[in-house]
Amino acid sequence: MNNPPTNLKNQALRAWVDDMAALCQPDKIHWCDGSDAEYDMLCGQMVEAGTFIKLNEEKRPNSYLAFSDPSDVARVEDRTFICSKRKEDAGPTNNWLDPDEMKAKLQRLFDGSMRGRTMYVIPFSMGPLGSPIAQVGIEITDSPYVVTNMKIMTRMGSAVLDVLGENGTFVPCMHSVGAPLEPGQADVSWPCNRDEKWIVHFPEERSIWSYGSGYGGNALLGKKCLALRIASVMARDEGWLAEHMLILGVEDPDGQKTYVAAAFPSACGKTNFAMLIPPEGFDGWKVTTVGDDIAWIKLAKDGKLYAINPEAGYFGVAPGTSYQTNPNAMEACRRDSIFTNVALLPDGDVWWEGMTDEPPAEATDWHGNPWTPASEAKAAHPNARFTAPANLNPAIDPDWEKPNGVPISAFIFGGRRTNIVPLVMQATTWHHGVYIAATMGSETTAAAFGKMGVVRRDPFAMLPFCGYHMADYISHWLNFGRNIPNPPRIFAVNWFRKDDDGHFIWPGFGENMRVLKWIVDRVHGRAYSTESPIGWMPRYEDLNWEGLEFSREDFNKLMTVNADLWKEEILSHDELFIRLYDRLPKEMIFKKELLLSALWRSPTHWELDPDKVTWNPARGG
Ligand code: GTP
Ligand code: SPV
Ligand code: MN
Repeated sequence: MNNPPTNLKNQALRAWVDDMAALCQPDKIHWCDGSDAEYDMLCGQMVEAGTFIKLNEEKRPNSYLAFSDPSDVARVEDRTFICSKRKEDAGPTNNWLDPDEMKAKLQRLFDGSMRGRTMYVIPFSMGPLGSPIAQVGIEITDSPYVVTNMKIMTRMGSAVLDVLGENGTFVPCMHSVGAPLEPGQADVSWPCNRDEKWIVHFPEERSIWSYGSGYGGNALLGKKCLALRIASVMARDEGWLAEHMLILGVEDPDGQKTYVAAAFPSACGKTNFAMLIPPEGFDGWKVTTVGDDIAWIKLAKDGKLYAINPEAGYFGVAPGTSYQTNPNAMEACRRDSIFTNVALLPDGDVWWEGMTDEPPAEATDWHGNPWTPASEAKAAHPNARFTAPANLNPAIDPDWEKPNGVPISAFIFGGRRTNIVPLVMQATTWHHGVYIAATMGSETTAAAFGKMGVVRRDPFAMLPFCGYHMADYISHWLNFGRNIPNPPRIFAVNWFRKDDDGHFIWPGFGENMRVLKWIVDRVHGRAYSTESPIGWMPRYEDLNWEGLEFSREDFNKLMTVNADLWKEEILSHDELFIRLYDRLPKEMIFKKELLLSALWRSPTHWELDPDKVTWNPARGG
């Protein structure tokens, strides 16, 4: 039964929903109004169905836990496709299939895919409702889990239909878990399709089809599919940026506010950095969160870049999150949250590895099995996540929903590198920054299905999220900078360098403030740097060490540029460049040559020399 809401005025939307209902043959159609009553009703139904476990109302009010199917725990990059008309436009870093062929395949897969289920229609806005930067999407799904997550992660419901009006455009996002029910067939707690998963984007028509998975970025289609893959194509066409970046504000003791955006690959610390609490020694400094995963950035008439966070919640990595590492995230998921694949405690609360110093005596693991500290398996899946409302983050920036966004003064790029890459450096120019970002390497994590811990080039942390040819994306960044009179400064960081015993050298988390302060000071031209062959770097005396015992020796371990290893590192950039060769901007090749020649001239071990200060007034261009 199709019962469209009375404020549905958009005939294109009505027709599309009718078509999709005819194709998928659901038992029912439910237009989501986004109300709390609707949320409670769906949560109640999922508790009945065994998808959700209601958590202890005292310990974790209004919160639920879901265990997914073990085949459905992370993004599936090898099942993710960019189906542009021409293969060359998707580029060598994306999976591609001819769009006509893909559509024929999808028609077959979605034919009857919602039998025995309810089809939900979710109107949502990425970005504050009515913001000039926001985009409307409509997700059709047969997963109530998706509906409840979308309610936290986006501005969702009836009001979006008013924004859409009669003639507004929307991104159609089609989703099915691919598990139709025959009459009388009992459902499972996490329906999905174990055999086939397809996450498909049609960039020219700006549409999304996702089949077979109910998890995270595979299924919450506003996030990676719309706000990054499709939006990156819009951004290229319209001259803006859609990035895998957190946005944070730094307030100094004089009350001056500086916003920065930072791109780290999945599970490399964006949520933590976005919610950083300044440590001892930083009286009067404050960090506020605008976003933790995605930034949409536009050049305004005043010549500055303004960024919005298109999301309304956090889909954050649970393991490793604690009151020590990230108290703000812990507060954000204190209540009104959904947990997926974390462990359940006997008292009806949740637990995951790294949450407490001492593990609980017993728990139920994410497979639903009894677990004790003696168990070999982990209690929570490494990619277990919390879905938490952004406005519960105590550090939320007062301007986080400002329709025109916040002004960005610096970009930071960082990966997970055990060796070679220093704690921090500054690019000397915009195009040097683009080079650093384009060649960023990172060890792979549990956020994507596949092998973990191998270094791969992840340009701009966008490898899995760029909706077009990666070389064109790099060109877009170069061109974008040329049009900005005084572009944001660009920095590179690496929190993950390890010593010979395999321990992190840098304490990380809140201590990252020491690096962030240097970055902000550089932006305002009030900090020194010295020139290394690969970029500008702070000396030991350029960072504030108050409240932390960290020796000059250890700092040098983090900052040393080993010329031999760096020559190899830079030569390895060719592996990426050769893949992208036909469309790679030549600036990248020239920059590589310049870096090699700088390294060639430098001593084998380039170390920070306190007597060799060069004053580099921060400059762009
Ligand atoms: P996505 O949501 O997947 O895009 O990732 P994210 O970049 O937001 O990742 P998140 O902040 O959730 O990082 C998760 C992992 O990084 C956890 O295992 C953290 O413990 C670890 N981590 C975060 N910050 C730091 C840090 O400063 N130092 C170290 N050593 N680990 C960190
Ligand atoms: C990521 O993998 O970068 C995420 C989580 O932010 S997901 O939404 O599942 O893609
Ligand atoms: Mn992400």
